[in-house]
Amino acid sequence: MWAANPGLFALLEAARHTGPIARVPRLGWVITDPVLARQVLNDHAAFGMNGEGGVGHLWTQLFGDEMAQFFGGARHAEIRTRARDLFTEDAAHALVERSQGPSHAALAGRLAAGGTADVADAARVLAGRMVADLLGLPAGGPDGAFRELFATGERLARLALGTTASTGLDPAVVARARSIVADITAGVPHAYRTAGPGTLLGRCRELGLGLPLARGLATLLVIAGTETGASGTVRTVALLHDTGRQRALLEDPSLLGSAVREGLRVATPAPVIGRHVNRDATVGGRRLRAGERVLLLTYRATNGAGPFDLYREYVPETRQLWFGGGRHLCLGAAVARTQVARMLATLLSDGRPYRVVSRRAARGVLVPAYAELAVRLA
Ligand code: HEM
Repeated sequence: MWAANPGLFALLEAARHTGPIARVPRLGWVITDPVLARQVLNDHAAFGMNGEGGVGHLWTQLFGDEMAQFFGGARHAEIRTRARDLFTEDAAHALVERSQGPSHAALAGRLAAGGTADVADAARVLAGRMVADLLGLPAGGPDGAFRELFATGERLARLALGTTASTGLDPAVVARARSIVADITAGVPHAYRTAGPGTLLGRCRELGLGLPLARGLATLLVIAGTETGASGTVRTVALLHDTGRQRALLEDPSLLGSAVREGLRVATPAPVIGRHVNRDATVGGRRLRAGERVLLLTYRATNGAGPFDLYREYVPETRQLWFGGGRHLCLGAAVARTQVARMLATLLSDGRPYRVVSRRAARGVLVPAYAELAVRLA
């Protein structure tokens, strides 16, 4: 967390002592309590994604008002409803198997033969393959193109590092962001015309969304679906190793779901969620005024339950706050869970635990992550 963003680390540390809700100079309201955080996420009238403090504000500066409609209006409900079948548990399993299955087989083979594998690099490539397949972009071929797609998404996300205090972007940042978006979406016009209805871009065409909004949504998918997923996967692999619970999982594979849930809870790859206060509201006994901003420190809210514990039951107050809540609840939650489970299954497929032989944190990134996590079978 420190390597990724020292400012965020300092905020999360200070928030240990602020209580469930506090007003912090320059930042606005800061919430650390899971129940209050969910109240904000569920109150769509009082708290919005558009306007200072919400992530929709960032996207609208890049893609225009149509993107604001996606984040804030009836358009959002329509698009989510019409794309829901692409994100069910079954669809997620099919997607991960189709786009990542051969890479997992190669990874398992390398480890079984006594080799070392960098799980962080593998997870970046896998995330790139998954998101390309989901969108309807070319998803086969050598790893390099997907490593590059991931890195380009990371470059764009990094531009948001300085937005904790304000989501207003200066024109130079917008220009840089637009040129990165052009790289990410170079293949979108072709896929928009030709991809099947089982892909997101094919679905955008069928919905008549138009190419500009389809480009925006494709970029959103690349940003939302790669860094968080790779971070959650690799940090769960590390947590299972560091807490010495691999043998327990090998002996009782029914604990896999719990390992995934605990890994994502403790890692909380999206450690902060921002919202704009649309109209006056009361939260935790404090009066929030229209025009203010709220930072939900999800990392604090989810980690209040304690450290990674393979035997921890589902925590009702926290639910799956690491995926957000309310109408913007992560659309890719099933995909994310499936990816983490698939990686743990691959690493443990030989029946032996793995050993972390070296690790390095990623520096200056929006989503805290490992740059490298090299493992070998014990
Ligand atoms: C462990 C991995 C992941 C985590 C922790 C995560 C977390 C989140 C969170 C917290 C939000 C809500 C943001 C807000 O309310 O402001 C969100 C939204 C979203 N996520 Fe994820 N995400 C993950 C993986 C994915 C994947 C793999 C995909 C795509 C395949 C995805 C697609 C999306 C989309 C499209 C949204 C926007 C939903 C909307 O506004 O209606 N996410 N995610």
